[in-house]
Amino acid sequence: MRIGILTGGGDAPGLNAAIRAVGRPAVGAGHTVLGIRNGWAGLIGEGDYEELNRRSLSGILQIGGTILGSSRTNPMKLEGGRERVMANIARAQLDALVAIGGDDTLSVAAWLADHGVPVTGVPKTMDNDLSVTEYCIGFDTAVSIVTEAVDRLHTTAMSHHRVMVVEVMGRDTGWVAIMGGLAGGADMIVIPEFPVSIDEVVEHLHQRRAGGSDFSIIVVSEGVEMEGMGRKEDAEGQRDAFGHVQLSRRGVGERLAALIEQRTGFETRASVLGHTQRGGTPTAYDRIWATHVGYGAWGLIQKGDFGRMPVVRCGGVDVAPIRDVVAQQRRVPRELYDLATVFY
Ligand code: F6P
Repeated sequence: MRIGILTGGGDAPGLNAAIRAVGRPAVGAGHTVLGIRNGWAGLIGEGDYEELNRRSLSGILQIGGTILGSSRTNPMKLEGGRERVMANIARAQLDALVAIGGDDTLSVAAWLADHGVPVTGVPKTMDNDLSVTEYCIGFDTAVSIVTEAVDRLHTTAMSHHRVMVVEVMGRDTGWVAIMGGLAGGADMIVIPEFPVSIDEVVEHLHQRRAGGSDFSIIVVSEGVEMEGMGRKEDAEGQRDAFGHVQLSRRGVGERLAALIEQRTGFETRASVLGHTQRGGTPTAYDRIWATHVGYGAWGLIQKGDFGRMPVVRCGGVDVAPIRDVVAQQRRVPRELYDLATVFY
């Protein structure tokens, strides 16, 4: 068999573990594995891929990023893009294609599956908001980085009796904020699922001061909308090929910090964690689960079971149609949000 692997969308720690988990057993069984460069971009134009072997698939488990490169190229938006991808798949004589990515990358894979391409997927997004699956590659590492940042910000917030606003990634959902905030003991977590007004934030900070806490840490998702900050769809800056605004340019953390200082008079600082949440070494958890889902994709290929992909459900690997995984976003449930508020 000839098997192509690509990684699309924003990179995330654990991608290499998944590439290894698909590629190593396949190469070991005598199949040809092609690493497609830079996501769907590698199947546009003349095609850009190279054969992977035991050597190139070794020593990558613990390395962040992706050895294949990634991009947000969307063939569905390029003139003749879908045809080009189909032609390159035929030209590379692929018997199977593994698309490792989030909702954007996997929605292209779902379209290809509908059009007869033997494709499977692997769930990846540090936002952790794909439907069906409880685990997406990169999420655990991102949460660990946010937790460590909140820990570190505690000591400086305490020393200066300040409010610290920590802006974390999360375009439409607040998984990274809620989990990082819970683990770090944040004093307030503001996420897209449960909007709060600036009045509520101010009131909460006053209450904390009145109760004897002279510092506060607020974790906020970059995708939050609040009066005085504008709608995220109106944010200035470039859009990627999937139509997403670059939220880092919106500066939610800085804006919230300025509003808090204006309204309370409490000295406030903002820290934007940005791409540090996606960089560097994957946690053990990310390596282990990326290995599980990557190996699951290899299992589906062996069975010729395409259009479906491995997901994590009830603590184990299960299989679901790619279409279902991209059908909607998984949002933070009320119980989890309420749990965090107990410790405010
Ligand atoms: O899609 C995942 C994500 O990490 C979002 O949380 C964030 O808004 C976006 O990627 C940032 O994308 P880029 O790296 O293209 O700026």
